[in-house]
Amino acid sequence: MSTKKVNVTFQPVNVTVEAEEGTSILNIALEHDIHIDHNCGGNCACTTCHVIIKKGMENLSELEDEESDMLDKAKGLTLTSRLGCQALVYGDVVVEIPKK
Ligand code: FES
Repeated sequence: MSTKKVNVTFQPVNVTVEAEEGTSILNIALEHDIHIDHNCGGNCACTTCHVIIKKGMENLSELEDEESDMLDKAKGLTLTSRLGCQALVYGDVVVEIPKK
């Protein structure tokens, strides 16, 4: 059985890549040489991997308390903000990487 593929579009670079469902936004970006900072190495202990979901919020894993607490500290927080290393993708999404 093959794993379901999903499409992830990164902005502002405007690159769409295919990924296996259940992969984190951060890992998908890194696999395709798209730069997202990840100072804590994807351990939900920083906010540098903060991204804003433009489309497909419902296609991500649920926001956990730990991620939510950390996100509160992110600069430029929006209603559709997530931590790239914690949000797993289960359908097509459009992700904006905020400027630092
Ligand atoms: S890389 Fe630090 S919280 Fe995601």
